Amino acid sequence: MARLCVVGMGYVGLVTALCFAKLGNDVIGMDKDTEKLKLLSEGSPTFYEPGLDELLRDGLDKSMLSFTNDLNWSIDQSDIIFICVGTPPGENGQPDLSQVEEVARSIAGNLNSYKLIVEKSTVPAGTAERVKQTIKLSGGEDVLFDVASNPEFLREGSAIADFLCPDRIVLGVDTRRARIMLKELYRDFDCPVLITDVATAELIKHASNAFLATKISFANLVADICEKVGANINLVVDGLGFDRRIGREFLNAGTGYGGSCFPKDVKAFAAMAGALGINNTLLKEVDRINEDRICSIVKKIEDALWICKNKRIALLGLAFKCNTDDIRESPGIKLVRELVRKGSIVACYDPKAMDNAKSELKSLGDGLSFAETPYIAVNEADALVLMTEWPEFVQLDYSRVKKLMRTPVIIDGRNMLQAIEIEKLGFWYSGIGCHRENRKS
Ligand code: UDX
Repeated sequence: MARLCVVGMGYVGLVTALCFAKLGNDVIGMDKDTEKLKLLSEGSPTFYEPGLDELLRDGLDKSMLSFTNDLNWSIDQSDIIFICVGTPPGENGQPDLSQVEEVARSIAGNLNSYKLIVEKSTVPAGTAERVKQTIKLSGGEDVLFDVASNPEFLREGSAIADFLCPDRIVLGVDTRRARIMLKELYRDFDCPVLITDVATAELIKHASNAFLATKISFANLVADICEKVGANINLVVDGLGFDRRIGREFLNAGTGYGGSCFPKDVKAFAAMAGALGINNTLLKEVDRINEDRICSIVKKIEDALWICKNKRIALLGLAFKCNTDDIRESPGIKLVRELVRKGSIVACYDPKAMDNAKSELKSLGDGLSFAETPYIAVNEADALVLMTEWPEFVQLDYSRVKKLMRTPVIIDGRNMLQAIEIEKLGFWYSGIGCHRENRKS
């Protein structure tokens, strides 16, 4: 079994470390944040992800996992080093690769034997070459190592299943040795394994995320057209999706895509294309359509209530999607900010993301409160806005909700309720991509 080190215990890094440990590898999880390491060593995950706590406890119990902040020691002990550090947005949409560079320099100083360095973080094509150059410059010409790219395609909320049963594995390698080591590491996986050069693997990751984001923005554009012509977006995308060349997935119109990947990756991909002198209008438009989604939800609230100022809005859903507590680039969080800016009094609720939201939004002051239950949030509200597709929001007792609200208005940003049923209860209901008047007739 290979000895692995995973540098960076963020989302991708922790899931990668735990899953490789589950598969029987000896794994060191390395991070600078000692508070995080303390929690992990005690068996407490640092974010919510279904199944993560069992996997963490199991790895620790079986001594397949350890955590440290000592990068030099981790490198010394390992054959394969996965780089999973953050690549946050930098200037002009380009990713800030300083953490990747820092790890590369540390690796250069600690090459006691051959090491395979594997990029997992999403990076622009050409980054592996830079890592290689940095290690050579800082470590000397005769150091033994390879740099490979093995992008992850994990979705938050189903990250463990996505890791263990992927649609495909992409291995970007330049040498036979790197190819053999990575193929051996993934030998038990029953899915297509695509072996490419390193730059191609890097590009597959960026292009995949940009393409999925394009599907979502396309669906949102069609949703806007549906509202004008009286068509129904849910049925339009079903009609599109039956065509196997298109597929139904990632065509749900709604509040727009959020999270730590799509918004950042589309911008970074556009910036990379632009810097290469390639027309990036398509990617910029995907981003623009997405940025506009919050305005279109506000417009729906104004269609019902006329003016947002002093209106009490119950906002359910602060995570960027369900099954996660992650609020990065979350449409719910953006909407809270916009409504408070317009003078609304917002009461919000989320099943998992309350703590993260509280610390993110603490500066908003009196205009915002955090309710302990959805029913408390809707009490005396002028409108209820659904922003994340948590199943518990579908299962609410909407007769009770109606009695609690001041005016019975529901804006369904995820098209998750049955419009006709909700209207029968006496609600003014507005979903996405389906004109109210036309739908009723
Ligand atoms: C994404 C990619 O799916 C994954 O392969 C990559 O490794 C990381 O980025 P993630 O950000 O966890 O994963 O979430 P995902 O399920 O892809 O959803 C991203 C955003 O798009 C969410 O805000 C989601 O609500 C939104 N979305 C998704 C839609 O608005 N409509 C859809 O049809 C699908």
